[in-house]
Amino acid sequence: MAFIVDVGQEFPRGLEGVIACKSAISAIDGEEGLLIYRGIPIEVLAEKSTFEETSYLILFGELPKKDELENFKKDLKENAPLSDDELSFMKSDSIPKTAHPMDVLRTMVSLLGVADKSIGTDPIDIKTERLKKIIAKIPTIIGAFHRIREGKEPVAPSDELPHAANFLYMMRGEKPGEEEARIFDIALILHIDHGMNASTFSGMVTASSLSDMYSAITSAIGTLKGPLHGGANERVLAMLEEIGEPEKAEEYVKNALAQKKKIMGFGHRVYKAYDPRARILKGFAKKLAYEKGFGKLFEIAEKVEEAMIKNLSHKGIFPNVDFYSGIVYSALGIPKDLFTPIFAMARVSGWAAHIIEYLHENRIFRPRAIYNGPIEKEYVPLEMR
Ligand code: CMC
Repeated sequence: MAFIVDVGQEFPRGLEGVIACKSAISAIDGEEGLLIYRGIPIEVLAEKSTFEETSYLILFGELPKKDELENFKKDLKENAPLSDDELSFMKSDSIPKTAHPMDVLRTMVSLLGVADKSIGTDPIDIKTERLKKIIAKIPTIIGAFHRIREGKEPVAPSDELPHAANFLYMMRGEKPGEEEARIFDIALILHIDHGMNASTFSGMVTASSLSDMYSAITSAIGTLKGPLHGGANERVLAMLEEIGEPEKAEEYVKNALAQKKKIMGFGHRVYKAYDPRARILKGFAKKLAYEKGFGKLFEIAEKVEEAMIKNLSHKGIFPNVDFYSGIVYSALGIPKDLFTPIFAMARVSGWAAHIIEYLHENRIFRPRAIYNGPIEKEYVPLEMR
């Protein structure tokens, strides 16, 4: 019998350790806690680069020359505005104002695909152009929805501001200060790519059937949303608020672990060391928290970290990127339910790069499962069941 049946054979649950493809985009050393984008350490990019430059690096493989960077920025700016129809749709009753912004983002990216009459079996360079449009519009969608749900008019993207600052401007209606814009820019850089993570893989699986880019990015957004992936960041903040006081943190962790609950913002499939992105974000969280009145939240976070390291570091469980990002975003005045959409705003460059890279040597993803259902079951007619 050629069925793959269950004879107790081992298989890597959750595809752990399975190689899905070759990729030159980013790499993680999970033992040492290192992350490189196209060969450049994340710490160097966080210090020296910008979202636009790193996005270009991730998408096209090399740091841009001056004119390439200027053209890329121009492309993003030109593509950032939403059409009147798109804005009207977001304002309409079809989108409840109580909806989670991640659901709205997923719906709006899908809607962009409905409106784009040119999609079809295009060459890869056209697909890349289309992906740039999606990258450019995501901050506008998030900023506009946030204002609409607050009963305010959306703010059109500015021609002058960089990508990160522009989002803060569209969300708040006021230009951000230089320091907060730069910290937000760095947070975006840290989230741009991360190897074969679940949402990237999800986007690649969709694109591998030669579906279209909007469908692939919509799949990726849906996957990022879950609490085991990008959705952890807003839950971290909710947990810190629930703990309420630094001295209650240790007890909270002990109880949660005794009930076999996962503590959000800890653990990773690949890192068995401190996530290098979390290390950078922790520095900004500390700085901003004390400047902006979130000091207690930071102290609670540090106590949770201490308790987790005491209890679980022997299993290689340390803070991941989602643990300190929420404190940074809160201190920048960003509401909790925008944290995961912000993750998408950055990661869309990584999704796009992996999708395009894979399409150059595409083969449809088609794994198999061990069949553990019945074999040779009798068909019982409806009237006899
Ligand atoms: N809290 C408590 N225990 C944990 C945690 C955690 N956050 N993470 C892992 N463990 C334990 C888990 O219970 C298991 O223990 P045992 O071997 O005794 O059964 C062991 O560590 C291995 O965990 P796993 O769930 O099998 O690991 P995984 O590789 O399948 O999952 C993970 C990785 C990130 C989904 C998981 O660590 C987790 O659920 N973390 C909390 C959610 C989170 O922070 N997600 C964000 C991930 S990083 C950014 C991103 O991708 O968005």
